[in-house]
Amino acid sequence: MQSTALIMAAGSGTRMKSSKPKVAFEMLGKPLVRWVVDAAKEAGCQDVISILGHGRDIVEPLVADTTVVVQEQQLGTGHAVMMAADELSKRSGSVVVLSGDCPLIEPKTIEGLISERQSKGAAAVVLTQIADDPFGYGRVIRSENGDVVKIVEQKDCSPEEAAVNECNSGMYCFDISELLEYVSKLGNDNAQGEYYLTDVISMMVQDGKKVVATVVADNSEAMGINTRVQLAQATKQMQLRINTRHMLAGVTMWDPQQVWIGPDVQIAQDVEILPLSILMGSTSVGEGSVIGPNTRIVDSKIGCNCKVDESVVLESVFDDGVNCGPRAYIRPGVHMCEGSKAGTHVEIKKSTIGKGSKVPHLSYIGDTTMGEGVNIGAGSITCNYDGVNKNPTTIGDRTFVGSDTMMVAPVNIGDDVVIGAGSTITKNVPDGALGIARAKQTNIEGYKKYKGR
Ligand code: UD1
Ligand code: CA
Repeated sequence: MQSTALIMAAGSGTRMKSSKPKVAFEMLGKPLVRWVVDAAKEAGCQDVISILGHGRDIVEPLVADTTVVVQEQQLGTGHAVMMAADELSKRSGSVVVLSGDCPLIEPKTIEGLISERQSKGAAAVVLTQIADDPFGYGRVIRSENGDVVKIVEQKDCSPEEAAVNECNSGMYCFDISELLEYVSKLGNDNAQGEYYLTDVISMMVQDGKKVVATVVADNSEAMGINTRVQLAQATKQMQLRINTRHMLAGVTMWDPQQVWIGPDVQIAQDVEILPLSILMGSTSVGEGSVIGPNTRIVDSKIGCNCKVDESVVLESVFDDGVNCGPRAYIRPGVHMCEGSKAGTHVEIKKSTIGKGSKVPHLSYIGDTTMGEGVNIGAGSITCNYDGVNKNPTTIGDRTFVGSDTMMVAPVNIGDDVVIGAGSTITKNVPDGALGIARAKQTNIEGYKKYKGR
């Protein structure tokens, strides 16, 4: 049966103390609302409706693959659903209502809500949690025989109701036509003057409709983010969830508390990730590689048996057996071919470093195509920028560039070339030549005596 997800994400998130809307904040590099959309899709809801309001220009591009409806004024969760009534009335079956600020919800829990509603023929299933500290949440009030009677918001609670610790997670599965019928009847006669979505529950119960409340297996899934403190707590939860998954799949971590891996990162077995390492975006790491300590890799492909030590790698590709760092900065567009090396305090940008070629110490290489088996001496750089344009350098196979060489681009250095240390190379060097461009050394005898020392 078709199921739709409805994601409430119109609120401002006042307690984040930010000009940015709350649901656009990121957890491990992915916006909060995106976590919720992706969880819904993974649970089988390909049809997602997002309710946006506050900061819509920022949030809308984050949910571009969903149907967006606008709630100009945030008059409550019930009002939010009313704004989606037109869209919902085009659909039938189940709708799962989720919150854009509850990013820890798991796809299997969403699937469970849908199948429970369908198997029990219920008008609504409410996901609840037993909270240690229920303050602030809506309380789920049950009758003596355990049936749900109503949900009462914190500000509307009697003392007895406030003592209940079963709380509304704010996530539900409804039959669409039942939801539409009851949402249209909502009023706002309550402590906050809001249209509460939660009031549809008691209205359904009064009309003899079947309403089920089901307790979430893991409370962290129901965690809502209202402050940056809670954002950090949720990030910690997700960090450990992701790291546990990788460790169980054969990845070693000395300390999973000190490794941050984005949700889409792929890591092969027998990879070792040392402390203070951050792997984000579409990064992948091949078997046997060792990453870290103190390394950040974003949107990059790292091959098998590579070593990336104390380095930053952005939008680049490493073939197998690459050795990087400590303290290399690999900027976008680098291809490190098999067995190549970017060593200590080396910066490389938009360049190919051929098979087995080495840039071991203190170099800048930019806009360069380097052949195989090249050795770049310490302190050598490509002068790729003339103040106006970026210019290319090519270096042939097996060429040896002496230390402290400036290669002033555009320039071509051939195969099997030797460049004398300290040269400033401004002209092309043909295959097999020695290129040398430096002032001849002069020794002035008796200098110490002359200075009177
Ligand atoms: C809501 C529930 C409460 C539950 C809690 C769980 C109601 C009335 N109360 O309370 O029972 O325990 O969630 O976290 O539903 N939103 C809109 N438009 C609005 C109002 C809210 O899109 O007009 C969005 C918010 O951006 C947020 C979500 O709905 O993503 C929840 O709204 P919020 O105001 O935080 O509800 P709570 O008071 O926390
Ligand atoms: Ca909330």
